[in-house]
Amino acid sequence: MYLATLEPGDRILSLELSHGGHLSHGHPANFTGQRYEIEQYHVDAETGYIDYAELDEKAARFDPDMVVSGSSAYPRHIDYERIQAAADATDALHLADVAHTTGLIAAGEHPSPVGVADFVTGSTQKTIRAGRGGIIMCREEWADDIDTAVFPGAQGGPLMHNIAGKAVGFGEALEPAFEAYAADVVRNAEVLADRFREHGLSLVSGGTDKHLVLVDLRESHPDVTGADAQDALEQAGIILNKNTVPGETRSPFVASGIRVGTPALTTRGFGSEAIETVADAIVRVLDSPEADATFETVAGEVRTLCEQFPVYDDSDDLNGDDD
Ligand SMILES: Cc1ncc(COP(=O)(O)O)c(C=O)c1O
Repeated sequence: MYLATLEPGDRILSLELSHGGHLSHGHPANFTGQRYEIEQYHVDAETGYIDYAELDEKAARFDPDMVVSGSSAYPRHIDYERIQAAADATDALHLADVAHTTGLIAAGEHPSPVGVADFVTGSTQKTIRAGRGGIIMCREEWADDIDTAVFPGAQGGPLMHNIAGKAVGFGEALEPAFEAYAADVVRNAEVLADRFREHGLSLVSGGTDKHLVLVDLRESHPDVTGADAQDALEQAGIILNKNTVPGETRSPFVASGIRVGTPALTTRGFGSEAIETVADAIVRVLDSPEADATFETVAGEVRTLCEQFPVYDDSDDLNGDDD
């Protein structure tokens, strides 16, 4: 995408990493931060929602060649029309990187930037549950440049088995059951957010509109870092990641938040009650992050839940053979 549309030294305006953005949107550790000049917009410190007024003001002042929307840890809907207007006002291209939300968008659970932004990129293995990879959508006029930037510009031979995996996942996403799945993903995230709030946890933006919840641990658990929480929860059988939060005060290697998602649990069939059990278990571990006994008890509960909601139902015959 970047190779096809920008020259070294061109300007990108994007959401800052600790405010929910992504490394590939201009972080100095990524080629985008090394090759292009970067300015960043933020979420509002009070509300946790994207500060669109700041974005407009920065677009006018910085005069970017590209404005990037899309996020890695922003729990709210994104106003793509508003960001397109900011890009149009300064004659910039607009890339909507919807990596996380491809499936939610396909199912109508999240606003779509398709037909709004100049380019839409997304992951094929996250909320859309297909083989691992990426999608680039653009208008016809850009198609040849994008194709050439992909091959020979950046990529080697295609992985045919993974193309088959993508086809199967996309086929599943066309079924009506996928819309129900995506709606459940969002509902489960709302249940998770409600339960966390009942336990007194502080959530970035106060809640969620999509598949993830971002917990800022600094108020409720000032001595527990995101890294501590991630490690303790892993010992208890719960996998999530540490995450920086807006106004981060720790190194990103330690971080002050955790990011919790619902797509995988929803795939296993977890409903509201099971999600509340998961939220309760997470909080028990956060309350005693050095207590091995708590980890063991929680790990036992996690095993029971996983047995109750297996990845594959034993009664399914994967060969399609009834014998
Ligand atoms: C906004 C954004 N862009 C790009 C990526 C990279 O996607 P992938 O993991 O599919 O390589 C991510 C990953 O989380 C992301 O959140």
